[in-house]
Amino acid sequence: MSYLFSPLTVRGITMQNRAWVSPMCQYSAHEGVATNWHDVHIGSFATGGAGLIVMEATGVVPEGRISTQCLGIWNEKQRDRLIPIVEFAHSMGTKIGIQLAHAGRKGSCLPPWSERPMATLQEGGWECLAPSAISFGGKYPTPRALTISEIDKLIISFGNAAKRAISAGFDLVEIHGAHGYLIHQFLSPISNIRTDEFGGSFENRTRFLREITKSVRANIPDSMPLFLRISASDWLEGGWSIEESILLAKELKDLGVDLVDVSSGGTSSGAPVPVGPGYQVPFSDRIKNEAKILTAAVGLITDALQAEEIVASGKADAVMMAREMLRNPRWPLAAAKLLGAEVAWPLQLLRGQN
Ligand SMILES: Cc1cc2nc3c(=O)[nH]c(=O)nc-3n(C[C@H](O)[C@H](O)[C@H](O)COP(=O)(O)O)c2cc1C
Repeated sequence: MSYLFSPLTVRGITMQNRAWVSPMCQYSAHEGVATNWHDVHIGSFATGGAGLIVMEATGVVPEGRISTQCLGIWNEKQRDRLIPIVEFAHSMGTKIGIQLAHAGRKGSCLPPWSERPMATLQEGGWECLAPSAISFGGKYPTPRALTISEIDKLIISFGNAAKRAISAGFDLVEIHGAHGYLIHQFLSPISNIRTDEFGGSFENRTRFLREITKSVRANIPDSMPLFLRISASDWLEGGWSIEESILLAKELKDLGVDLVDVSSGGTSSGAPVPVGPGYQVPFSDRIKNEAKILTAAVGLITDALQAEEIVASGKADAVMMAREMLRNPRWPLAAAKLLGAEVAWPLQLLRGQN
């Protein structure tokens, strides 16, 4: 029996297996609207046997995007173009979620393959907003600190975006609280030096995320899972830590978060991250077993036996994979075969089985 290829039910949704596609920005949207590229990108995973696909970081407001070509879900046109993508995933028996995001001080970029990193206002760029007026460094400008009323509006925007995502047919919502983007900027004392109720103590730095969680939960059905991606550690002295992540997971569980998708880093490009196979799995292990919440592990998981061991040993309930899925979008079909597990192949591909 394979643990990786056993189903997982979270609230009213059952993922057929625990080999999942991690969210990946494609910088291929126009005015936040998905394009043919997204049909093919998501479609390739949908035909590849993954139990769940989480669509890329999707801006809840225009200035919440990472780049001018990132997806958005602040209007109905954007929602409507996501519907056929969701429908195709469902027709292949794959569940599909969407990652709701705000880039904060790391926004207003051009796609990474552009000649210059940042978009000018003429190119559709914007003034970046953050908890505090501290630049990420390098190419990034100094952001403007959000006012309390702007923070309140953003909390509502996350809820509205979640409501739109459900109406597009998504099976679940993931809040993007990782990688040095806006929510993580509030969590980390390195990027948040506010002196009001959104900065300072653990309770204050986590308030923005707690309020977003409540806002999203209030806008999605009880039967729908709510995932949260966090960076479990900044890997920096004086930064956000694994101990705080465990505490946060316990609190958010009570507010309706069902699964923590455990990543790390992103607050500073200079952080000494010990990148290597499965390097973030120990964080997932601790959060799962100390906060008693479902987790997904992510980061340099590329091999079927490695993924199987992570789930079988109880270090995570599922694995999320990004770059390996880009290289081989039908990775789960091959992994299931190697592990002697059953996974449904699309009928059109059956002749490729042997
Ligand atoms: C092209 C690309 C785009 C990404 N975009 C996102 C994103 O939208 N949201 C997110 O949380 N992580 C994003 N990531 C990070 C991945 O989801 C994943 O956490 C990371 O790549 C580590 O997993 P891997 O070793 O399997 O690639 C992206 C990674 C890649 C390679």
